Amino acid sequence: MAINKVAVLGCGLMGSGIAQVCAQAGREVTVIEVAEEYLNKGMGNISKQVGRLVEKGKMSAEDRDATLGRLRGSTRLEDAAEAEIVIEAIIENMDEKHKTYSSLDQICSASTIFASNTSSLSITQMMTSTSPERQRRFVGMHFFNPVPVMRLVEIVRTILTDPEVFIAATEFGRDIGKVPVQTSDRTGFIVNRLLVPYMLDSIRALEEGVASIVDIDNAMKLGCGYPMGPLTLGDFVGLDTTFYIANIMFDEFREKRFAPPPLLKRMVMAGLYGRKSGRGFYDYTDPNNPKPMNLL
Ligand code: CAA
Repeated sequence: MAINKVAVLGCGLMGSGIAQVCAQAGREVTVIEVAEEYLNKGMGNISKQVGRLVEKGKMSAEDRDATLGRLRGSTRLEDAAEAEIVIEAIIENMDEKHKTYSSLDQICSASTIFASNTSSLSITQMMTSTSPERQRRFVGMHFFNPVPVMRLVEIVRTILTDPEVFIAATEFGRDIGKVPVQTSDRTGFIVNRLLVPYMLDSIRALEEGVASIVDIDNAMKLGCGYPMGPLTLGDFVGLDTTFYIANIMFDEFREKRFAPPPLLKRMVMAGLYGRKSGRGFYDYTDPNNPKPMNLL
């Protein structure tokens, strides 16, 4: 079953990346946002990203035009009606997800697959706002930031997902150029289950005076060959997002390794969210030369 018509809900960092990747892979994509302002910003980012690919000689001008021509923006959920798969990348708030999915269930055809890009909320809980038939067609499709660059997508099944739908979502992930891995609906799936305790431990190491921000980052970057150190990665993902995910994981597993350390909580309270707010473990006043913050 080839999936050609895609609706992407949400055009933020993740949604715009997902829409771009699907359009580049030849899919017709409807991108839906709640307001024109967000839609224009997200669509502008996609144009900028594909424009850069042309500048770098990685895409022809014709392919750019064809890619952008396959993207359609909308602020009406009803415009997802034709989609064969809906990939939802809206705000990580269960009430909002429930509202969206219960409307969407009425709008889309019985065969449409629903896929959530959530990183930490329960796919099972989300699917309960849809009909029993749709619950069999409900999966997680978790992409990684920056979506056009990161090759992985986690395909998540619940205990009710139809095996054929799970296979179709996996093949779709592969068809749009990602490497799919299959997992079950446990908070954090594979990547965040392993990544989040590592990131939290790096913050604990800083709190305990094991080493400086720069030395912790350099140790893991140069000692283990990671593309970024854990504190730089925290700033990149967003410390508010990391804190949010850690709390959900701690709530699910009740294990100390998922508990957000006090320093992280205080940084979030103080508005130090990382790159997006200009300051986190580093100060990004000069984005090309981030300076470590004095946090202790
Ligand atoms: N969007 C699109 N392309 C981007 C990009 C972005 N935001 N950032 C970098 N790139 C591209 C660059 O243009 C460059 O492309 P070319 O090779 O064609 O020139 C390429 O990526 C490499 O970029 P740079 O040379 O600038 O820098 P880099 O080698 O350090 O790569 C990086 C940047 C890809 C972000 C790399 O540092 C990396 O892989 N970091 C780790 C990212 C990571 O772990 N992401 C997962 C976060 S966890 C998550 O997303 C899940 C969750 O649930 C929270």
